[in-house]
Amino acid sequence: MSPEAACDHGPGAGAARPTSLDARLEWARAQDAADVLAPLRSRFALPRGADGRPLLYFCGHSLGLAPIAARAMIASDIEDWERLGVLGHEHPRSAWIGYADRLQQSLAELTGARPHEVVAMNSLSVNLHLLLASFYRPSGRRRAILIEAGAFSSDRYAAASHISWHGFDPELELIELAPRAGEDLIRIEDIEARIAAEGPRLALVLWPGVQYRTGQLFDLGRITRAAHAVHCGAGFDLAHAIGNVPLALHADDADFAVWCSYKYLNAGPGAIGGAFVHERHLQRGELPRLTGWWGHDRGTRFEMSPTFAPAHGAAAWAVSNPPILSAAPLRASLPLFAEAGIAALRRKSLALTAYMALLVAELAGQRLVVITPGDPAQRGCQLSLRIASGAEHGLQLYQALSARGVVCDWREPDVIRLAPVPLYNSFEDVLRGVWTLCELLPQQC
Ligand SMILES: Cc1ncc(COP(=O)(O)O)c(C=O)c1O
Repeated sequence: MSPEAACDHGPGAGAARPTSLDARLEWARAQDAADVLAPLRSRFALPRGADGRPLLYFCGHSLGLAPIAARAMIASDIEDWERLGVLGHEHPRSAWIGYADRLQQSLAELTGARPHEVVAMNSLSVNLHLLLASFYRPSGRRRAILIEAGAFSSDRYAAASHISWHGFDPELELIELAPRAGEDLIRIEDIEARIAAEGPRLALVLWPGVQYRTGQLFDLGRITRAAHAVHCGAGFDLAHAIGNVPLALHADDADFAVWCSYKYLNAGPGAIGGAFVHERHLQRGELPRLTGWWGHDRGTRFEMSPTFAPAHGAAAWAVSNPPILSAAPLRASLPLFAEAGIAALRRKSLALTAYMALLVAELAGQRLVVITPGDPAQRGCQLSLRIASGAEHGLQLYQALSARGVVCDWREPDVIRLAPVPLYNSFEDVLRGVWTLCELLPQQC
């Protein structure tokens, strides 16, 4: 159902709106009953509280839930290891040698890429370093990297360290664009204007797909076009975007992107990450790359030649053989995306998040501020909330929510993040979560 429909029949339905939890539950349950994606919830393990009841889980932006089938996928690789030992690398059943290659098609669909433009490898920050090694090529005056002020710490560390690695000063060459005074979100026109203004100094724009603290979704095509207009590259951190919103990296002409798989891809703690390199760059012999044997051409990798011959595609950036046990859960999770379709998941996501936003507005009023964009086109599923009475109350509220079985998280200095995930969250979850939140809110602020 659409967010508009949620407005028409849900908590924003004006004078006819129900006021008791029971009356609202009736509405939410009717949405769940009509939701064709609702059965997918049963394909996930739902964490339970001490009383054995499922927790209200809104933390897919941090660690996605375990697909029930993940255990069997890991177990089958362990069994193969037990039964086959090293022979498992080539045995048709396990075929670990081609394991990462078999994930390419699904990852390409989720990122809007061609299969040879994506690779499952390492983890996010490592992949960012590998791609910065190739795509941050300072020369002459052009040596700055533009990032957002308040970028995820690891991204900032990575960008600053590459600037230092090249012998420059991050104080001078790391440009951080902040929202306008008094605002939480960065306006797309400000990003474009800053790129245009800094143009001759810029070597790279490094931007998130979805901002981790605010939940703001950016237009990657517009950012890329602005960067390319000043002859600089554009790379993206998709940690909070992949599996959350449809992506079109190839059509958007992004130069590179990196991601992790433990959030919306539900592949488990520390799971294998991934990367995208646009095919425009794949034949560029002059592009430097940090290399290892797993990036070598597959056909001749085991000849152990002293000379590196790159594999076709983004796979050339793979350095080591992939961690099979941390990739195995993707074999359980990715088929669920294919089954549901990312477009259908996005439709449900828009409705769930709109419902959450409406409930917050109606039940909390001025006591909570949603800092995530109100425009659904500028957000994924996450909503970031700030309590009007101050950060101290916000932290207490977050702790009280945890004690009441609502799993969300707190990001310094003052934000509570909640993400209703369309693969496994229901309208009833959203209602119960926001109801509990509002019960715990101080009455005055
Ligand atoms: C936006 C963002 N970037 C980078 C990272 C770091 O990921 P990793 O520890 O997998 O390198 C995270 C982790 O949550 C993240 O949310």
